Amino acid sequence: MSNGLFNEAITVSENYTDETDIVLYQGDCMDLLRDMESESVDLVVSSPPYNLGKEYEDPTSLREYLAGQKPVIQELYRVLAPTGSICWEVGNFVSDGEVFPLDIFYYDIFKGLGMKLRNRIIWRFGHGLHCAKRFSGRYEVVLWLTKTDNYVFNLDRVRIPQKYPGKRHYKGPNRGKPSGNPKGKNPSDVWDIVASDWEEAVWDIPNVKANHPEKTEHPCQFPVELVERCVLALTNEGDVVMDPYSGVGSTLIAAVKWNRRGVGAEAERRYVEIARERISRFAESQLRLRPMAKKVYEPKQSKLSQIPMEWRDDGSPEEIHR
Ligand SMILES: C[S@@+](CC[C@H](N)C(=O)[O-])C[C@H]1O[C@@H](n2cnc3c(N)ncnc32)[C@H](O)[C@@H]1O
Repeated sequence: MSNGLFNEAITVSENYTDETDIVLYQGDCMDLLRDMESESVDLVVSSPPYNLGKEYEDPTSLREYLAGQKPVIQELYRVLAPTGSICWEVGNFVSDGEVFPLDIFYYDIFKGLGMKLRNRIIWRFGHGLHCAKRFSGRYEVVLWLTKTDNYVFNLDRVRIPQKYPGKRHYKGPNRGKPSGNPKGKNPSDVWDIVASDWEEAVWDIPNVKANHPEKTEHPCQFPVELVERCVLALTNEGDVVMDPYSGVGSTLIAAVKWNRRGVGAEAERRYVEIARERISRFAESQLRLRPMAKKVYEPKQSKLSQIPMEWRDDGSPEEIHR
């Protein structure tokens, strides 16, 4: 199989090995984790089951739910390299109309292991369910934590277009010079990734497949682009990216797309089948993915929205500004 980035086939194994591009284990993530060597993973990107009564979940109390998650996180910590990161994407647990923000509860578990929070990223949606007795929820949270202070962070790989690249310093020693960064701006801790179409795919069930090129039958799959940003910023080529709850394989696809290895576990056979199909379509360049950093706004055409002359021939990647 070939996809343009890989010269050879993407190799997939059903059990843990460090010899294939992807490990896709069907079963309980704890069983996979037990087979893995300590410090063998560079990044974990995952969205755990939320205990919200989705078809694959048995609703339990929040306390029981977290008690069940703790051993998984302890194992993830063990397999994480000292320079590694965990990106843990969660929403709210809602019981009798009361909201329990899961990131707050998870934070204690990570902190108890000595991990350090680098960002509490807000992944924002434009639309969603309309609530009658509280304000409608329009975001989820990604906790980005590192194992140590010596962690990988490649900001330049994930800079995004500036709205007004033509802005200039108006005083001081740099007066008249462009005030931004020619490589683009820091994407900040509020992510609007796919805000314009994904949220309809996630929430607006009748339009699930029509609205987003990536959407499958999984009820809470996340967009590959969300993982790509984590992969590019927090790992280097050849690194290992893991998702213990890999669903339809979004993390694994983002990993191999950028020449990293992917390791995932998924309990439901049907989702594993879909993940396999998606990986195979990706390898054949047939998988439709929303392009990274697709514009979600069109700045008005003015001098400020144009790329400064000084930046045009400096070798900075042009697409960053488009
Ligand atoms: C929130 S979804 C993750 C979706 C994934 N991010 C994607 O893009 O497809 C959580 C997934 O965890 C799976 N799951 C639940 N318990 C599991 C376990 N103990 N081991 C492995 N997978 C599990 C569920 O079947 C579900 O597909």
